[in-house]
Amino acid sequence: MGKTALITGVTGQDGSYLAELLIAKEYTVHGLVRRSSSFNTERIDHIYQDPQQPGRTMILHHADLSDGVALVNLLREVRPDEVYNLGAQSHVRVSFDSPMYTGDVTGLGTLRLLEAIRASGIDTRIYQASSSEMFGAAPPPQNERTPFHPRSPYGCAKVYSYWSTVNYREAYGMFAVNGILFNHESPRRGETFVTRKITRAVARIRAGLQERLYLGNLDAVRDWGYAPEYVEAMWRMLQRDEPDDYVVATGVPATVRDFLHAAFASCGLDWARHVLFDPKYERPSEVDALVGDASKARDLLGWQPAVRWRELAGLMVEADIAALEEELSGARVRIDR
Ligand code: NAP
Ligand code: GDD
Repeated sequence: MGKTALITGVTGQDGSYLAELLIAKEYTVHGLVRRSSSFNTERIDHIYQDPQQPGRTMILHHADLSDGVALVNLLREVRPDEVYNLGAQSHVRVSFDSPMYTGDVTGLGTLRLLEAIRASGIDTRIYQASSSEMFGAAPPPQNERTPFHPRSPYGCAKVYSYWSTVNYREAYGMFAVNGILFNHESPRRGETFVTRKITRAVARIRAGLQERLYLGNLDAVRDWGYAPEYVEAMWRMLQRDEPDDYVVATGVPATVRDFLHAAFASCGLDWARHVLFDPKYERPSEVDALVGDASKARDLLGWQPAVRWRELAGLMVEADIAALEEELSGARVRIDR
């Protein structure tokens, strides 16, 4: 019998890669999907299995991190060996516009899930998707011992979740771990995060469908890695004998301007001819530089990244060109669910 996992945020970038990874490891994967008025399962359509299919290994449930009772009921029903809490309002800029909502889902949502585990009385391990955004203004390089100084409602909510996870480990002996992941991207990255916004724009400018790209602060430094590699680190954290917290990063810094240059140059385009500044994309308080030191993950998890930001920019541009060509040829078909 394989293991059973429950993933919140299964429809997101990381959730989709993690579900693929766990299915390949012969897990039965249960995913929490929130109700939406439009389809929100595009990233997992290719691994979806019909409810009528016997012996399914991928099962979706409607629930929400704002509904603690639904979480208890779901855990009682699924009885997972491992829980991955990836669900969140994950956009930093949006968290300034919706701070209460972000606090409720990204912060309290984690506490609801931890309490739901206790209330359901099941024996399970839990991974919490913590973030380098918690370090905020603390200068790089950042590691597990760097003090937090969050600079956004999102960062504050993630700090609350981080400490709630540590508290449930200490208070109740729960196998609860924090993965403190630095920015990680892929062709499945949400379209409003800066890397994907840039790579989609490159594909559209190249095809003559768009002329301008409006961006905010180009000086911010980030440590961009490749999402499929990062979900492997999540899984490894839950296979250890003891629960602990780990930074996951490449350790390689780049500015938004560097990424912009590399993405445009990969198609022979000059970014300076297309990019304009719009203050609407600036944040009331910015995180200037995030560069991770992941030596603990390397030493204890045996985890090391292979893809660096420049290669990442190239592969994301290529994927967006291919997706656009498919869209323009009419070959892309939506699957009803
Ligand atoms: P993402 O693509 O934005 O996915 C977020 C997921 O959370 C989606 O499945 C979303 O559902 C779900 N969600 C939102 N509100 C919810 C609610 N009220 N109840 C239940 N689910 C809800 O994020 P990601 O990039 O995959 O990141 C995964 C997790 O890691 C997040 O917690 C994020 O904050 C954290 N993180 C990400 C990075 C990064 O660089 N990617 C770095 C550090 C930490 P819909 O699909 O319906 O919107
Ligand atoms: N989104 C966005 N859009 N960001 C822009 C833009 C723009 O038009 N122009 C400049 N930026 C800058 C932001 O100010 C920020 O400094 C940087 O690009 C990266 O922004 P995002 O891609 O939105 O990511 P983030 O670093 O704020 O947050 C991501 O990484 C965190 C880990 O450090 C998210 O995935 C978070 O969920 C995650 O926790």
